[in-house]
Amino acid sequence: MFHFTSTPPLSLYVHIPWCVRKCPYCDFNSHEARAGIPETRYVDALLADLEQDLPAAWGRPVVSVFLGGGTPSLFAPESIERLLTGIRARLPVQPAAEITLEANPGTVDHERFRDFRAAGVNRLSIGIQSFQPALLERIGRIHNAREAIRAAAAAHAAGFDNFNLDLMFGLPGQTVRQALADLDTATGLEPPHLSWYELTIEPNTWFHRHPPALPEEDTLADLQDAGHRLLVSRGYRRYEVSAWARDDRTCRHNLNYWRFGDYLGIGAGAHGKLTEPARQTIVRSTRIRHPQHYLDALQNRSFVSGRVELAPPDAILEFVMNALRLDEGFTPELFTRHTGLPAGALEPGRQAALDAGLLEGVADTLRATRHGQRYLNELLQYWMSDARGN
Ligand SMILES: C[S@@+](CC[C@H](N)C(=O)[O-])C[C@H]1O[C@@H](n2cnc3c(N)ncnc32)[C@H](O)[C@@H]1O
Ligand code: SF4
Repeated sequence: MFHFTSTPPLSLYVHIPWCVRKCPYCDFNSHEARAGIPETRYVDALLADLEQDLPAAWGRPVVSVFLGGGTPSLFAPESIERLLTGIRARLPVQPAAEITLEANPGTVDHERFRDFRAAGVNRLSIGIQSFQPALLERIGRIHNAREAIRAAAAAHAAGFDNFNLDLMFGLPGQTVRQALADLDTATGLEPPHLSWYELTIEPNTWFHRHPPALPEEDTLADLQDAGHRLLVSRGYRRYEVSAWARDDRTCRHNLNYWRFGDYLGIGAGAHGKLTEPARQTIVRSTRIRHPQHYLDALQNRSFVSGRVELAPPDAILEFVMNALRLDEGFTPELFTRHTGLPAGALEPGRQAALDAGLLEGVADTLRATRHGQRYLNELLQYWMSDARGN
């Protein structure tokens, strides 16, 4: 049984599901915008969708908003402004809330960034992936290296003091030298935040059907060690498996996910997670996935395709799956506050993982050891049997 005495911080995720072209590695809910984007209708749908969620989130301040995709930077700044104004009219978004918009090089310039900023966006997340021309082509990106560099420069020029660059490593045929060159170029652009993801081959992608030759395990390990050293030497601190920040400019929105905070999720295929203290429950909801079907739902305002209440073992597993990604780990107090469960509910997994050397207790914090970080799935196994009800 859950026993909540308060609710976790609340964020808002907004999904924008269109891209210029589908990348061969991408399994996000993103669709090629062949026949143009029905921006006005989509913003209408998003705001109507949000209204359905309001009663369950009544009065709770919103600490961050993330406009993700897809490629939200394809939307006109006027549409983003109408969306953000509509959100603020319906929800108490904190004045200092972090408001991020995902942008692709090749869809933006300095003027567009400036207009997004005027619309209320205060953080950009720019999908660069690599600066190597041959690799960019191999992974089907619509932009070249020069445009990637120009996008980062445009973020500075438009006055964004907070932005992220996404890079990937382990790309087809990528060498250690190429990966380090990417990090060197990226850090030279002085982003306050860097996400450095290992390429994963996901089902339902072109790369899954036509597997590329990826770097060997040894190359990957060398590449990661050297990459970590480079990033530390440039003043970045890793705070999550793939997330690096300078001057503590961590991503507040993602931190809220990793700490098992609450979030509303609106837009095609978006997920939400909401604690409802009045009913002592945690509800996960999913929106209709296909953009056209989602738009059609505007007629009868029923955007939700699924809703489930979490059982305590699921909440424990989901909490550790997220919080153990953080270098700082978590305190039992945070666990109790955000799951509504006593710290003892972490047993017997906690003790077994400590004994196995995958988890460590430092002061009142539990976190993955170096070994545990490397073998995170193995570490999570200690809580999995509970979630399966064994
Ligand atoms: C939802 S995507 C949106 C960003 C934006 N549309 C773009 O591609 O520039 C966010 C990030 O996830 C990462 N990503 C997507 N697919 C991935 C995969 N299969 N493996 C690793 N990282 C991936 C990429 O770095 C990408 O920038
Ligand atoms: S641009 Fe981004 S969201 Fe769109 S397909 Fe490529 S990786 Fe996926």
